[in-house]
Amino acid sequence: MIDLKNSGLDLAFDEKNLKLISKSKTLKLPKPGIRTLKQAKKFLMDEKSTAENNDQNIYYMYRDVCANGDKEKLAKYNLRYDITVIPPNKIGREFIKTVGHYHPFLKNEKVTYPEVYEVLHGTAHYLLQKIDMKGKVIDVKVIIANKNDKVLIPPNYGHVTINAGKEPLIMTNLVELNFSSEYGDYKKKHGAIYYGLDVDGQIKFVENPKYKEHPKLKVIKVREMSSFGLLKEMPLYVSAIKFPDKFEYLTKPQFCFKE
Ligand SMILES: [Fe+2]
Repeated sequence: MIDLKNSGLDLAFDEKNLKLISKSKTLKLPKPGIRTLKQAKKFLMDEKSTAENNDQNIYYMYRDVCANGDKEKLAKYNLRYDITVIPPNKIGREFIKTVGHYHPFLKNEKVTYPEVYEVLHGTAHYLLQKIDMKGKVIDVKVIIANKNDKVLIPPNYGHVTINAGKEPLIMTNLVELNFSSEYGDYKKKHGAIYYGLDVDGQIKFVENPKYKEHPKLKVIKVREMSSFGLLKEMPLYVSAIKFPDKFEYLTKPQFCFKE
């Protein structure tokens, strides 16, 4: 059992049954959405690598996790808190990853919704790619985050999360409540602009040939961003409940970010 009290909620992860467990009477966990290998194969470097195992579950998404009494508060500020579990795995030569998506542009604006991630357990490689208004990738970076780190995905960056470690990656996110993510570009291009391959147990990024140009991949360190409500010692859930107004940049990014 992996203790997840660092989430600010009385949670644990049952590694044997790959299930998130709530130990609190005031928190009933939603049923997880499950991503199967079959759904993910168009996002892979080598879709044939999935041939034998199509029905395998590769990660689990618990949407709208909330203790009794907190739901109205988050909803009032148009926020949603989710938990994702990515057990360690490889698919072909790639380390296991989320399929990747962009967020939609706000109506009549040039910015997309941002997002905040927090690592509860394991290590995440957040691979971010920025697009211009024509859909061309103009910036690429990877942020490596460990336990209790918080990472801001700024507007206009699509993102993939890679678990290149040996532990389950358990992470939370906070986002605007209502938008739907856009998977089409990642699917069309068979994934992100770079693939995270396993080379002797270490992650190595290689170019995805479906993209014409490949901006240099920058490796970025996690920074503490208190002005964004992100503090290493405070769980994201606790910050969101205590200071929901601090997260207005997630719902009204047009006023908070330059293009
Ligand atoms: Fe997202």
